[in-house]
Amino acid sequence: MPDSGHEHALTRAPYRLDTVWSEWVQSVRWIDPVRERRFGDQHRDLLWPLLGLRRGGTTVEVGCGGGALTRSLARWMGPGCAVYGIDRDRNFLCYARRRAREQSLHHRTRYLEGDALALPLLDAIADAVTSYTVIEHIADTEAFLREQIRVCKPGGRLSVMQVQGEGGFSSSPKRSARPSERERELWRPLERAFRRQVERPLGVASARVGLAELPALLEALGLAEIMLEPFADVDTLDDARVDLGRARQHLKDQENWTLAMANRIASLLIRPLPEDHLASLKRCVKARFRKQRRWLEAGIRTWDFSVSVSWVVSGRVR
Ligand SMILES: C[S@@+](CC[C@H](N)C(=O)[O-])C[C@H]1O[C@@H](n2cnc3c(N)ncnc32)[C@H](O)[C@@H]1O
Repeated sequence: MPDSGHEHALTRAPYRLDTVWSEWVQSVRWIDPVRERRFGDQHRDLLWPLLGLRRGGTTVEVGCGGGALTRSLARWMGPGCAVYGIDRDRNFLCYARRRAREQSLHHRTRYLEGDALALPLLDAIADAVTSYTVIEHIADTEAFLREQIRVCKPGGRLSVMQVQGEGGFSSSPKRSARPSERERELWRPLERAFRRQVERPLGVASARVGLAELPALLEALGLAEIMLEPFADVDTLDDARVDLGRARQHLKDQENWTLAMANRIASLLIRPLPEDHLASLKRCVKARFRKQRRWLEAGIRTWDFSVSVSWVVSGRVR
């Protein structure tokens, strides 16, 4: 046992595949608003030819998560279009259906539960097939791409979008409330359990395909007219376009997710943590968010930001 008294006593895989992402990896309540900005209308003209979109056409998004991109596609492609969002996580699909209905896009979108390696779709039904930050989580990259070629019409476009490596840059040093040394220490046994029990068996980010490899891979799979293009967006709560209500909600969602994760991961350990470990950790987390909220309410801006750079690589299916 390396350096913790807990790892040897883990229970079996704690998750079900049809809810694992939303319950253990990313909260739809924060990922989706970030994606809504990332796939905002400012990127429409850039993405239109790269993704091979058509007015009134059919597009498939594999691993659609909370559906932010599918909703943008449905708006851009207009009346008569069909956008299929495929994911194996039911909670994400539920959220995506609700958001599409709220935005009156439900006639243009269909959300289907399914595996990226066996899409629940007929051959050659789509003008465009795309994915965003999914390829790096799928062990068999080639099978992932071949399955998308299968559902794409000849002449249609297959695109892969990912955030390359660290993918950007951020303000430094960070001025917003950071986890204290004590909080970091309390997280350590939980982080180790999480890596062993959830991240590794699930293969999160374990199949990263280098940007330099992807165009060559698409070529090798027989795609033509390969295109490669980056686009960037900034994430900060301090920008004047982020209203106070949204910033408040974001902090609340982040705090709730962090506290819920502490409970969930602690439940993986058969041998309980020392008395008061979890309670102390939660106190640290709450104090950190309280400080952040005080600054927000007082109008104190930290100007912490991160810029993420996404890449689109796409090719025409022959
Ligand atoms: C990093 S998230 C990206 C979600 C969405 N594209 C976005 O950017 O908001 C990865 C997504 O891929 C889905 N996923 C992972 N492996 C999958 C598989 N084998 N089949 C279908 N979906 C999968 C997860 O459920 C999750 O929604």
